[in-house]
Amino acid sequence: MAKTATTFACTSCGQASFRWMGRCPGCGEWNTLVEGAARTRADERVAGRAGRALGRRSKAAEPRKPVVLAEVESGAVERLRTGSDELDRVLGGGLVPGSVVLIGGSPGIGKSTLMSAALASIQSAGGRALYVSGEESAAQVKLRAERLGAHALAVPVLAETSLDVVLASLELERPQACVIDSVQTLWSAELTGAPGSVGQVQEVAAALERFARERGCAIILVGHVTKEGTLAGPRVLEHAVDCVLQFEGERERSFRTLRALKNRFGSTNEIGVFEMRAGGLDEVADPSDRFLRDAEPVAGSCILCAMEGTRPLLVEVQALVAPTDVVPPRRVANGIDRNRLSMILAVLARHGGPSLGSADVFVNVAGGVRIEEPGADLAVAMAIASATRDEPLSGSGAPSGCFGEVGLTGELRYVAHADRRLEEAARFGLEQIVLPARCGNDELSAAARSLAVPAPTLAKALDAALGDRAGRSRAA
Ligand code: TYD
Ligand code: MG
Repeated sequence: MAKTATTFACTSCGQASFRWMGRCPGCGEWNTLVEGAARTRADERVAGRAGRALGRRSKAAEPRKPVVLAEVESGAVERLRTGSDELDRVLGGGLVPGSVVLIGGSPGIGKSTLMSAALASIQSAGGRALYVSGEESAAQVKLRAERLGAHALAVPVLAETSLDVVLASLELERPQACVIDSVQTLWSAELTGAPGSVGQVQEVAAALERFARERGCAIILVGHVTKEGTLAGPRVLEHAVDCVLQFEGERERSFRTLRALKNRFGSTNEIGVFEMRAGGLDEVADPSDRFLRDAEPVAGSCILCAMEGTRPLLVEVQALVAPTDVVPPRRVANGIDRNRLSMILAVLARHGGPSLGSADVFVNVAGGVRIEEPGADLAVAMAIASATRDEPLSGSGAPSGCFGEVGLTGELRYVAHADRRLEEAARFGLEQIVLPARCGNDELSAAARSLAVPAPTLAKALDAALGDRAGRSRAA
């Protein structure tokens, strides 16, 4: 008797069903049922045989003795270098063999370019790479590689969308690193859903992950970002893979940032900065320099001394405050979290800053970067206060900056790495940096200390940067 080949499962409660329904009978959520491959009896038998062949037992398993962590053997894994320091740093020091990385980003951002360049480096360093393209023909992939340089033409390419064919080819080629561009274009014959549907994407990723683990091949899945900005296949993939990288930036501008949202083999704080050029993506080794190039000490502009992972980064935060009759007034945040902006506006209104109940507020981090650390609060508050007063933050011409977290009671809270932030500011000739008073207790070098203007509260910080300039107190 033929068994049903597909089943549907609720992404929110896991309830299984043999037909699609608009509403999950288990939890009552709407539109959560997705197609997945059902295991038929025959499948189970095959899986059982394979399991036994690998020495596993499904029934009456024998207990095993747990090992104390100190005695666990952890063979030092040799990571694959991708030839790009920025990419390697975000990955935590290179690609780990046997791992699965998902890289997401909107179309045209440069995912294929970055991956082609990485495979080219691996191949020319003597490794075995494979580029599986489901989106473009081999000729189109070649055109891109030609722009990257002659070494990129050595990478083998496979233009294919069938998962089974891809798996068979992988088994034959046994690459050390393989890029699947993109995971949404591959389809498994076991499912009836269209390529890119949640069930298909899940199935494709699971099969590739099995291959990666068994053969020690590093697989990079390229994924598209939906209109809402999330990786397609509602987060299903993020759980399955080891590392999720997000490639972002504005397409009209040349800067791109690469950031890890999840990383089982490294920190998620690191960002890599790239610039799209005619010959591919160039690494930006000194991002502060690029981001500050157009910064002018004018009203509404504040330089933020941010930390992104292990790197200090100077960026310009801009604010525009415009009176409005619209209720509620507009709050637009580019590059920072919108809720954070609302919080800062509330603290400003309550603790010594302007009250902006009848003004539109726009905040933008110049250069298209996104800043996620709480140390950005003070710069946002300062830029807004400066825009409201129509007064630049520095009277003497040399730009000034700040960093610090703003608390709900109007206090400035400690943030880490004051020394590194101040040294980066000194390198760019900034004149004064307002920072939380507690950071002044950190060990600071003489150069760093000469810039520091410690302030205990937001009100004091605004005074120091905008108010009574003559009376500002500098740490000796
Ligand atoms: P692509 O890597 O195809 O983006 P994605 O795979 O994320 O969709 O590249 C996108 C853009 O980059 C494309 O509009 C052309 C541009 N580009 C350059 O400016 N220089 C180059 O060397 C290459 C290869 C692409
Ligand atoms: Mg592409």
